[in-house]
Amino acid sequence: MTEEEAVFARRSVRAYFERPIEEEKAARLAEEAERCNAEGGLCIRLVRDEPDAFRSFLARYGKFSGVSDYFAIVGKKGKGLYERAGYYGERLVLLAETLGLNTCWAALSFSKGAARRAAKIGKGEKLVCVIAVGYGKTQGAPRRSKAAADVMRAQDPPDWFLRGVEFALRAPTAVNQQKFRFTLTGEREVFAERLGGFYGEIDLGIVKYHFELGAGKENFVWRGQTGGKKA
Ligand SMILES: Cc1cc2nc3c(=O)[nH]c(=O)nc-3n(C[C@H](O)[C@H](O)[C@H](O)COP(=O)(O)O)c2cc1C
Repeated sequence: MTEEEAVFARRSVRAYFERPIEEEKAARLAEEAERCNAEGGLCIRLVRDEPDAFRSFLARYGKFSGVSDYFAIVGKKGKGLYERAGYYGERLVLLAETLGLNTCWAALSFSKGAARRAAKIGKGEKLVCVIAVGYGKTQGAPRRSKAAADVMRAQDPPDWFLRGVEFALRAPTAVNQQKFRFTLTGEREVFAERLGGFYGEIDLGIVKYHFELGAGKENFVWRGQTGGKKA
């Protein structure tokens, strides 16, 4: 499965089999996390065989079961951390999907204390959220989506822009809020913004990653992007 196919196949999955992730696949995930850390100035780690974070009341209330592996999305406190967390976390989500694994972002329904301990959060670091990963008991369920017209502003948009928006609408967002907007501000310039909501900055990073995949990075530049990715 390609990364593009993964965009269309992925759905959040909360119930997992106890089947462990094979060493080879876990190594691929951990290596990619290291690459994301180097590029994005993050400290993401893959936590394995640690069932406590998803055993709490909150996790069960959120319908999670059988989770023992997850990415701890961690970074140094600082500007842009949440957006970068979303952007690189989603890259890991899509890689997991291409490897035949399922995932679910969790910012609320898990035990922060257990995850902090397991991920050994250091001084100056922040645990932004986690992403459950493993073999799902289902492949998730379809959900409602906003229409393209609800999340974009453009006159005579080119195909690459529409494809970017289509991919962004397939992205996970907290409580499926989809509170984002893409505006075509020049022939090849796009402005992405969050329109409030819980965890809107993480969502923005996630949908920007999807937009780039759909639109093709070679076709446009982000307006307001400084290029400085370090926290
Ligand atoms: C930043 C973020 C935080 C999330 N936190 C939780 C959570 O705490 N509990 C949960 O059950 N789902 C959580 N989700 C999953 C969303 O509910 C899910 O992505 C959304 O409903 C869209 O469904 P889909 O992922 O199947 O497309 C979160 C998603 C994102 C992007």
